[in-house]
Amino acid sequence: MPGKFPADSLKMYKLCFHIQKGGVGKTTISCTIAHALARRGFRVALIDCDPQGNATSWVYPGDMNYDIADVLLGTQPLKNVLLPVNDTLSFLPVFSVGGQLREWAESKLAKDPRAFEFLLSDLSKMDFEYAILDCSPAFTLLERAIVGVVDEVINPITPEYFGVDGIEIFTSILEEVEHANRRKIRNNKIVLNMLNKSFVRHKVFAEAFYKLNYQLFTIPQDSKLAECQAVQKSIYEYEPKARCIPEFEALIDVLVSEVRNA
Ligand SMILES: Nc1ncnc2c1ncn2[C@@H]1O[C@H](COP(=O)(O)OP(=O)(O)OP(=O)(O)O)[C@@H](O)[C@H]1O
Ligand SMILES: [Mg+2]
Repeated sequence: MPGKFPADSLKMYKLCFHIQKGGVGKTTISCTIAHALARRGFRVALIDCDPQGNATSWVYPGDMNYDIADVLLGTQPLKNVLLPVNDTLSFLPVFSVGGQLREWAESKLAKDPRAFEFLLSDLSKMDFEYAILDCSPAFTLLERAIVGVVDEVINPITPEYFGVDGIEIFTSILEEVEHANRRKIRNNKIVLNMLNKSFVRHKVFAEAFYKLNYQLFTIPQDSKLAECQAVQKSIYEYEPKARCIPEFEALIDVLVSEVRNA
């Protein structure tokens, strides 16, 4: 049932699961949350902003003619590049081989600093209710430009000793991004991913995260998540009874209610 936001509100919620650390589940969480919101009837745009193209090879393994760089360069209109995944989920892909996104960010972004703002504004005009952007494990000009225009960044992290450091580094860079854009960006949630409660060290690191001043969500270590990527399916299609699904749904319940009440 689309259009759950108040009828007079065309505002699209712009969300990013980001941290500068690699391999913590940014892509896995971004794509799963996008699928999950779309399953609830929200119109969702999932955007692959990582030149590695992991989200693209998982969510849209088929052929495509254009990618996000074409939109940012202005060589193609958004509607030519946006791909339908299902009735409510659309996807903006990136070419992992031969793509121009990183080169655009290094050579053109500084002269076109509002490019992502315009891209998101165009998606909003297409009546999307959520935009979810998947980024690289970095905080270069490209990721700063993206984080600078979203409503919320949620930090995925794994239960490890350096995780808390990663959050501190992220927070200090976020402050710079907020200052550069003269706006506040919501950042009050952590997703502790790949948690295995039978590991004592995971329990110890989880305790450290509970002490931070964030809402903490957990996603268990679940081999089904890795398996579903290999066959280019969402976890909902691949294993509807997967034990990670209730945890994703718990996060979405909170997200949706916060957005609705905003
Ligand atoms: N909860 C989980 N349980 C089991 N495996 C997981 C889980 N979350 C992610 N993975 C696996 O961990 C690996 C890294 O996940 P993912 O690619 O989503 O991380 P990332 O932060 O996006 O990485 P990068 O920094 O390279 O963009 C993948 O192989 C993925 O299948
Ligand atoms: Mg990734």
